[in-house]
Amino acid sequence: MSALCIQTKDVTKKFGENVALSNINLSIEEGEFFSFLGPSGCGKTTLLRIIAGFESLTSGSLLIDGQDVSKIPAHKRPVNMVFQNYALFPHLTIADNVAFGLVARGNKDKNDIRTKVTEALQLVRLEQFASRYPQQLSGGQQQRVALARAVINRPRVLLLDEPLSALDPQIREQMQEELKSLQRALNLTFIMVTHDQSEALAMSHRLAVFSAGRIEQIGQPRDVYEKPASVFVARFIGQTNLLEATVKEIGRDFILVDCGQENLFRIPCDDTKTDAKIQLNDSVFLYVKPQAIRFVGTKSPSSGSGGDGINAFDAVVESASYQGHTTEYVLKMKNDCRLKVVAAGLECKSEGDTVQAAFDILDCSFLKAASEKEPVALAYAKV
Ligand SMILES: Nc1ncnc2c1ncn2[C@@H]1O[C@H](COP(=O)(O)OP(=O)(O)OP(=O)(O)O)[C@@H](O)[C@H]1O
Ligand SMILES: [Mg+2]
Repeated sequence: MSALCIQTKDVTKKFGENVALSNINLSIEEGEFFSFLGPSGCGKTTLLRIIAGFESLTSGSLLIDGQDVSKIPAHKRPVNMVFQNYALFPHLTIADNVAFGLVARGNKDKNDIRTKVTEALQLVRLEQFASRYPQQLSGGQQQRVALARAVINRPRVLLLDEPLSALDPQIREQMQEELKSLQRALNLTFIMVTHDQSEALAMSHRLAVFSAGRIEQIGQPRDVYEKPASVFVARFIGQTNLLEATVKEIGRDFILVDCGQENLFRIPCDDTKTDAKIQLNDSVFLYVKPQAIRFVGTKSPSSGSGGDGINAFDAVVESASYQGHTTEYVLKMKNDCRLKVVAAGLECKSEGDTVQAAFDILDCSFLKAASEKEPVALAYAKV
């Protein structure tokens, strides 16, 4: 395991009475690409600014390379921040913008500065633009200048606040790749703030999902996507189906839940979940991804309860949206719940069709609904 680079211990930040961050405990390893993901106002930028030294802590502590830096000012910390709007100086050339970090830290060796600026511009493939001004570059190119300027001092940690949000989707994808390869090439620790789930999943080694100043889950993208720790994460991290259900039977390795109107489903229940002390008549959310649901012939499988390893249900196609290689359907179940289905383009159902659909019991999971105050209208599915 790599050494720890950033540690926050019970970090809390209040602005007056407003609690922006509450007991944040994070450990980020050296060389990691780590993302803070969450909706607007959940405290992502505040935590980034605390790490950078632009914001003080109300309580708790922050360690960089094992050293408490709470009292160390921003310019003395081994971190650099890339701002959302790039913050380039319009009256300076690209080369002078990139050199700024070195000059500001007292480097007066013109040859050294020239060499380092050339290297930094080569890194982001902009060496031919050295004598231009920022307004003569595209958005993606300006972003790359901001990156070159941020890495020229070889900080230990690069903090990126929504670095790609100003770019249009195509350049954004290209820049995602460039950021990843820059991180690999320099082997720096990157901490990126984003509210874009797919960006966080695609780019990070690990991510933390924030909600209202708290961390809901920390994990690798696959874990967070496939095993969300809460209903909030399941909803936030992408298309998913959440069906409100009541526990009717507790078996050795499964639970049987009732979603209403004879919709009984079997859900695997491993030891960890059993530890969560699921009891009869508990409220839970059945959780199944749209890609896991398929259409089946009306005769098989025999029943909906999952005894044969399959959960099946009857529904009516409420909408069908052709997307090329896939088609997205919204199915209305007998209990009036909606489920989203993403099926291969070959599947062909029309609005109004009565269908039977199914998913393997191993493809579904459940989340306890206990602490969630979910509005009833949202309780079954986010479609
Ligand atoms: N300087 C400040 N004074 C008072 N409140 C602040 C200040 N900075 C942030 N806040 C509040 O702290 C909370 C968290 O803000 P923050 O900027 O960290 O959110 P965010 O997750 O980055 O959101 P976004 O995705 O919109 O950028 C918000 O409620 C915000 O209004
Ligand atoms: Mg922000």
